[in-house]
Amino acid sequence: MILILQLLLALSLRADGYSWYQVLDCISRSSDLSDSEYITTYYFNKDPFLRFNSTVGEFVGYTELGVKNAELFNKGPEVQRMRGELERYCKPNLQLVYTHILDKAVKPKIRLTSEKQASQGHPALLMCSAYGFYPPAIDMYWLRDGEKVTSDVVSTEEMADGNWYYQIHSHLEYTPTSGEKISCVVEHASSKKPIIVDWGGSFPDSDRDKIFIGASGFVLGIILSTAGFLYYKKKSPGQIRESSADIDPSGVLMSD
Ligand SMILES: *[C@@H]1O[C@H](CO)[C@@H](O)[C@H](O)[C@H]1NC(C)=O
Repeated sequence: MILILQLLLALSLRADGYSWYQVLDCISRSSDLSDSEYITTYYFNKDPFLRFNSTVGEFVGYTELGVKNAELFNKGPEVQRMRGELERYCKPNLQLVYTHILDKAVKPKIRLTSEKQASQGHPALLMCSAYGFYPPAIDMYWLRDGEKVTSDVVSTEEMADGNWYYQIHSHLEYTPTSGEKISCVVEHASSKKPIIVDWGGSFPDSDRDKIFIGASGFVLGIILSTAGFLYYKKKSPGQIRESSADIDPSGVLMSD
């Protein structure tokens, strides 16, 4: 899991439509912070023009303005200050997140349901819901035969339940084809591996119930009728012998 702490500093001059902002990112992939990075990027009108990356260790410019600033900052005290930011700002804050937030992560309960069944020309609608998780950062997506689905997906934001827990929902509209596998995947701090819930085949729940009841009735019918037939056979052995006895003498008479 990748952890990103982000801070945005913005200065907007709305009247002229110019905006300047700076984004600070603390990035870490493991709780021992061994691979953590401090990145700060300066934007002008949404375009990044200058960046300091703690792994690189100096400013890099992307535009004329950025290159000029990089030269200036790399000579002055700015770059010295930036080189200390990973230890001063990022590591303590990342540590706080690891020890006080991620260790309190609560796993979501996931439900995969059919909202609308497919009928001639109309696609089916599946809904995947995750309930009761914490922290709110979560990734929910769909797989179709192992491939990430990019279209016909509508998802909500993480929604606060008001009790520190969150929920999120995603809809997938799809036209079922036989043999294909649809899964809802959730990635969250509470689980090292992605949580995968497979859609239970081509029959929606209600249809599966009907098929089950029908099949059970059919099996029960066969059992009862077999039992009835065996009971009848056992109860009336004499009748069959009597009738065969009736035929025999007449056969004898005929040949006589
Ligand atoms: C920071 O720089 C290193 C080394 O060039 C690079 O591997 C890493 O991806 C950069 N980080 C970001 C977030 O750009």
